[in-house]
Amino acid sequence: MRLTSAGMFLLLFSALQATDVQEKEVRALVGSDVELSCVFPERHSFDLNDLYVYWQTSVVGTPKTVVTYYLSGNSSAGHEDNRYRDRARLSLESMKRGDFSLHLHNITPQDEQRFNCLVFRKSLELEKILDVVVTLHVAANYSMPVVRAPSGPSENEELTFTCTSVNGYPRPNVYWINRTDNSLLNETLQNNTVSLNAHGLYDVVSVLTIRRTPSVNVGCCIENVLLHQNLTTISTQAETVTGTEYGITESQADAPKKQGAVLSALIVLGVVVAVAVATGWVCRSRCPPQDPRRSWAARPEQTFSSTVSDENSPPGAWTGFL
Ligand SMILES: *[C@@H]1O[C@H](CO)[C@@H](O)[C@H](O)[C@H]1NC(C)=O
Ligand SMILES: *[C@@H]1O[C@H](CO)[C@@H](O)[C@H](O)[C@H]1NC(C)=O
Ligand SMILES: *[C@@H]1O[C@H](CO)[C@@H](O)[C@H](O)[C@H]1NC(C)=O
Ligand SMILES: *[C@@H]1O[C@H](CO)[C@@H](O)[C@H](O)[C@H]1NC(C)=O
Ligand SMILES: *[C@@H]1O[C@H](CO)[C@@H](O)[C@H](O)[C@H]1NC(C)=O
Ligand SMILES: *[C@@H]1O[C@H](CO)[C@@H](O)[C@H](O)[C@H]1NC(C)=O
Repeated sequence: MRLTSAGMFLLLFSALQATDVQEKEVRALVGSDVELSCVFPERHSFDLNDLYVYWQTSVVGTPKTVVTYYLSGNSSAGHEDNRYRDRARLSLESMKRGDFSLHLHNITPQDEQRFNCLVFRKSLELEKILDVVVTLHVAANYSMPVVRAPSGPSENEELTFTCTSVNGYPRPNVYWINRTDNSLLNETLQNNTVSLNAHGLYDVVSVLTIRRTPSVNVGCCIENVLLHQNLTTISTQAETVTGTEYGITESQADAPKKQGAVLSALIVLGVVVAVAVATGWVCRSRCPPQDPRRSWAARPEQTFSSTVSDENSPPGAWTGFL
């Protein structure tokens, strides 16, 4: 079988030439498309009949999964893992110019992997000319948290608030906020249940139990670390003499200002460009939000999936490789 033999030589060559692996990181939203960059650092045109190109997942200690590949003269078909069939694409036109980037369509949480791009040239006795590892970080936006205020008889010594948010990724941080002084409530007062749902995304339910006081004003904040996003919902429980009128809720979200197009950070051999991209990610907003009118909803520039590859980084790092 061709795949088997191809796989054999692949492993062999990985072992023999474990040098100069380029490492990058990319982030993408679930459901979006992403390009995993693998570009030959020098200007060079390639003959498609001279190339073997492999994209495989690379997890230490587990078998490699073929994402897609191109074998000299034959366009790839048939041997990809089912998970990637029809979702992974190489561009032959780009490959002629030395761009072996992988286009991955409709990202799922399971795509949070290390992807390895390997390029060999037949005319150089199958010398490996490129070895790039791209780590894909996947994120999904949590739903606006819904806070259920306590109901029922008011004789209880304790009040129980429940905060629910669904379909996010990665795992959330949950904070409860004392809206009276905007402080964080002690974590020991909350009990979080985080579960993976059928879509491979996280649902979270947080239960806050606090001592009954005449007026309680709390907020629930769901933090998505990867998106640098805090979603906050406020619950005001104004107790009356009869103690039955609870549950005025209002919602608002707090989002970073810099959540737009740039969602990719790369780590390329100390290239300063990476620092510039990374600092673009510094989030300036905080939770709880300072301005109650500032809302998340109308944000036109949410093009999270348009990842930034290293097109702009200087190619110097790879000279002397061949
Ligand atoms: C392309 O694939 C066919 C059938 O799989 C094979 O016979 C042929 O030798 C391949 N061509 C090249 C250039 O590898
Ligand atoms: C994320 O979710 C919040 C709450 O549902 C919503 O307001 C916001 O527009 C969403 N953002 C994106 C990028 O989908
Ligand atoms: C919230 O903060 C106010 C003022 O610091 C304090 O009086 C109140 O007890 C706090 N509420 C809770 C639930 O901790
Ligand atoms: C949170 O509560 C625990 C138990 O009541 C207490 O030991 C701890 O000091 C508190 N932490 C803070 C930051 O108040
Ligand atoms: C947290 O909630 C779970 C599920 O409701 C429960 O089994 C567990 O005992 C709770 N833990 C604490 C510390 O209250
Ligand atoms: C979200 O809120 C938490 C708790 O206040 C804070 O530590 C964190 O920095 C906030 N994150 C963002 C992105 O605003």
